[in-house]
Amino acid sequence: MRSRIKAASLLASLLILSVGCMEQYDPRRFWKQSKDEREIAHRPIQKLTAKGEIPPKEVAVADVDPITAKYVSFCASCHGEDGKGNGVAAAALNPKPRNFHDSAWQGKVDDAHIVGVLEKGGEAYGLSGSMPAWGGILSKGEIEGLVKKIRVWGKK
Ligand code: HEC
Repeated sequence: MRSRIKAASLLASLLILSVGCMEQYDPRRFWKQSKDEREIAHRPIQKLTAKGEIPPKEVAVADVDPITAKYVSFCASCHGEDGKGNGVAAAALNPKPRNFHDSAWQGKVDDAHIVGVLEKGGEAYGLSGSMPAWGGILSKGEIEGLVKKIRVWGKK
């Protein structure tokens, strides 16, 4: 009986000891490191331009004026980075997002209408429901700034 208890306590202490020793081999602390290394290794290779130069750094949203930053975050996916209605999501949409360079459209709508569409969304004006309402997300000032930006595209 005694020796059984002795053997059990010996086993228990061995177990505690080995768990303690194993701690320094815990692989989890290397997981993040190896994940980071994997990400670096899989980064797309930067290609040189046709002239053999290093391509210009992509414009970070923080580098541009706040209205452009809003446009890039909220509108460009549909209306395209340069307002031509050809954003990545445009292919799946029918009717297509407005091309802001369309002078016929520019001449047809006044600023108040554009402000209204931006605030209430396309559906409120009998347009596509894919054009979201931004009234709750953008401030009045931001909406007016976006209208100005859209008008600049109308002049080019
Ligand atoms: C999910 C896609 C999507 C996003 C995001 C989006 N739009 Fe649109 N937008 C549309 C579509 C689609 C139309 C076309 C509606 C139609 O012709 O029926 C449209 C139309 C418009 C029009 C023209 C309205 C008219 O009277 O013809 C304006 C102006 C406009 N969008 C501005 C914006 C701005 C500014 C943003 C960002 C704050 C934005 N849109 C974000 C899809 C989008």
